[in-house]
Amino acid sequence: MIFTVAIDGPAAAGKGTISKAVAAHFGFGHLDTGVLYRAVGAKGGDPIAAARTLEPEDLNRADLRTLDAGQAASRVAAIPEVRAALVAFQRDFARREGGAVLDGRDIGTVICPNADVKLFVTATAEVRANRRHAELGGDYDLVLREVIERDMRDAGRADAPMRVADDAIVLDTSDLSIEEAVEQAIRVVAARKA
Ligand code: DC
Repeated sequence: MIFTVAIDGPAAAGKGTISKAVAAHFGFGHLDTGVLYRAVGAKGGDPIAAARTLEPEDLNRADLRTLDAGQAASRVAAIPEVRAALVAFQRDFARREGGAVLDGRDIGTVICPNADVKLFVTATAEVRANRRHAELGGDYDLVLREVIERDMRDAGRADAPMRVADDAIVLDTSDLSIEEAVEQAIRVVAARKA
């Protein structure tokens, strides 16, 4: 069975948690595509060469979740050749036997425009900055500035900008608990799968 769930949205909206829970619930594979861009940014040197030679062990680096790694990822993600080098891997994963959940920015629009389910998970910048701050600490105002800066870069780039696919369902998690958000996402997927 091939069944693809595309989950897009801005940083810290809850995509990762929701994607993992949906994958676990239905027994699907899960690919956090942000990790690919984080790994390219973290490798340093020429980002195009880094994307073309990305190895599985690059995805296991311990320093990929920091704010700096997120900013570096967002910068290299604006380079069309970097994005092009990562397309085939993501599309292959989406068509893996047994079902797949991919989360990112352009899954429903560019990587898997024919996905069986598309969700766009979002929340206000302040709520997302609060969540990032609770997770990583540091200065709240700086975290908020970085969230807004990254949103603008990811949505403003020319190649595969972050946007809501025409046929995506928007899930705003600003006023939802993790459990409520996961439950709503599972309900949407279950309805399409039936
Ligand atoms: O989801 P994340 O915060 O780990 O993503 C890090 C950066 O990678 C994000 O700011 C933009 C980029 N990205 C992208 O351009 N396309 C994707 N499908 C996933 C992430």
